[in-house]
Amino acid sequence: MPIAIRPLHPVFVGEVSGIDCTRPLAPNEIAAVNAGMDRYAVLVFRDQDLTDAEQLAFTRQFGELENYRSPGHIRQAVEQRLGPGIADFSNLDKDGNIISAEERIWFFKLGDRLWHSDSSFRAIPAKYSLLSGRVLPSWGGNTEFADMRAAYDALDERTKAEIEPLVCLHSLMYSRAAIGFTDLSEAEIEAFRPVRQRLVRTHPVTGRKSLFLAAHAGAIEGWPMPEAQMYLRDLTEHATQREFVYSHRWRLHDLVIWDNRQTMHRARRFDDRNEVRDVRRTTLAGDAITIEQL
Ligand SMILES: [Fe+2]
Repeated sequence: MPIAIRPLHPVFVGEVSGIDCTRPLAPNEIAAVNAGMDRYAVLVFRDQDLTDAEQLAFTRQFGELENYRSPGHIRQAVEQRLGPGIADFSNLDKDGNIISAEERIWFFKLGDRLWHSDSSFRAIPAKYSLLSGRVLPSWGGNTEFADMRAAYDALDERTKAEIEPLVCLHSLMYSRAAIGFTDLSEAEIEAFRPVRQRLVRTHPVTGRKSLFLAAHAGAIEGWPMPEAQMYLRDLTEHATQREFVYSHRWRLHDLVIWDNRQTMHRARRFDDRNEVRDVRRTTLAGDAITIEQL
């Protein structure tokens, strides 16, 4: 079956047919997926009943897995339900029970419902994220994506000129503070030390510019905090207008890949007290900084 990509939205997102993600890909298939990612920034693959090992093997065909020393979470390794390389975005604890709504870990996870780009709080932010839908709730739980290239293109010239040199500070502390979660230990605060990121990124293949925004961005270098936070909030509101947003309604065994360099995303509500949502992520490392750390 030939590879085809059908657009799911006027400005981005494609649905791929003709690829079986459980098997090794031919070079032309890898090239087609990469070209599709450059064009669409988000690709949806249907009916991919993947094991964790298959998801990891599929991911590795596109580059190196993200591998870092500093944590991206407050959960300790002993509390993990899943093996190395697979990030758990379910509402389950290590024993497979629904996480208590009183748990710090749950409060922390709620931050994923804010618009963000994965690992923007790392010096080298992530390239692609690959999310596999293993168990889905009967209601809600969509993942929404916003096209940061289209959002950039739609800015007026004055704003484009203003943002061009700006450097933001990104940290998990900022996104969690945005929902009132500030109960962090000294060690966590140290691990979540802010990193510098350019606000305007240029895609290495297409040359298209995009807004590098995330709830993790909580400050603009050289700006007073209220000015910076208001400005970032304003830009985020612009960038997540409906015309730039696709809402993915999950089907069982969907695999969705997004380019964190060109998009933001957020999780949406579901009945997380009574239903299980088990979605599992593998993440491809980025290959470039957006700016030096000082
Ligand atoms: Fe995310």
